[in-house]
Amino acid sequence: MNKIVEVLPDKTALIERSLQVCLDQIHSCIEQRSLCTIALSGGSTPKPLYEAIATQNLPWDKIHIFWGDERYVPPDHPDSNQRMARSAWLDKVNIPAANIHPMPTDEADPAVAADRHEQHIKEFFQVQPGEFPAIDLILLGMGDDGHTASLFPHTEALNVRDRLITVGNKDGQPRITFTAPLINQARCVIFVVAGASKRPALAQVFATTSDDQSYPSRLIQPQGELWWLLDEAAGLELKS
Ligand code: 6PG
Repeated sequence: MNKIVEVLPDKTALIERSLQVCLDQIHSCIEQRSLCTIALSGGSTPKPLYEAIATQNLPWDKIHIFWGDERYVPPDHPDSNQRMARSAWLDKVNIPAANIHPMPTDEADPAVAADRHEQHIKEFFQVQPGEFPAIDLILLGMGDDGHTASLFPHTEALNVRDRLITVGNKDGQPRITFTAPLINQARCVIFVVAGASKRPALAQVFATTSDDQSYPSRLIQPQGELWWLLDEAAGLELKS
């Protein structure tokens, strides 16, 4: 794993730098493999990043979009990560509909939806049994509690090692989420984190010793590149 930590002076600079790192990764993937698979994070931080990516002239037919997690709500619900990404980015660019791979949330049982999406991912990446596909670029956020995707502290999802997709749980609310092993198979993981409220959890995530169950972002140790892009409000103590 190659870990890069950058602390930017403010949110605007953080988004600008995040855009540049994402574009570098996208261009590199397409040059090497004529394809780029990207998994998006949800929440509020990445919205301006998605709006910025939407202004770029990219070979959208070579780009496939997934999500690292999804709230278990309909795609038109205000909390939907899919809805946010479509309105901020995907609806503004000429990306084929077939290149967008949302997590299903239309099954009565979220576990059935997770199984369905796992099957879809396996077919898309032509995954052999027991293998984890290498997604080119996974964007992640981090909650004030140190969660990432929908891998929340002290939940069963943290310990799922034999699945690509599982059911997360936020205060009893179901989520669909990538598992830690799937995220860690990525060629590149980029955390984009902003705000002073993230500072205490960041200190624990970056600590030499702490508890992965309490701070699940510690579980993210990808075989490829790991970028932590932070604004100063979040990453002041981590500035080298
Ligand atoms: C979600 C995200 C989640 C998010 C963090 C940070 O579905 O909410 O995928 O992991 O990245 O909660 O959220 P903010 O960027 O809004 O602080």
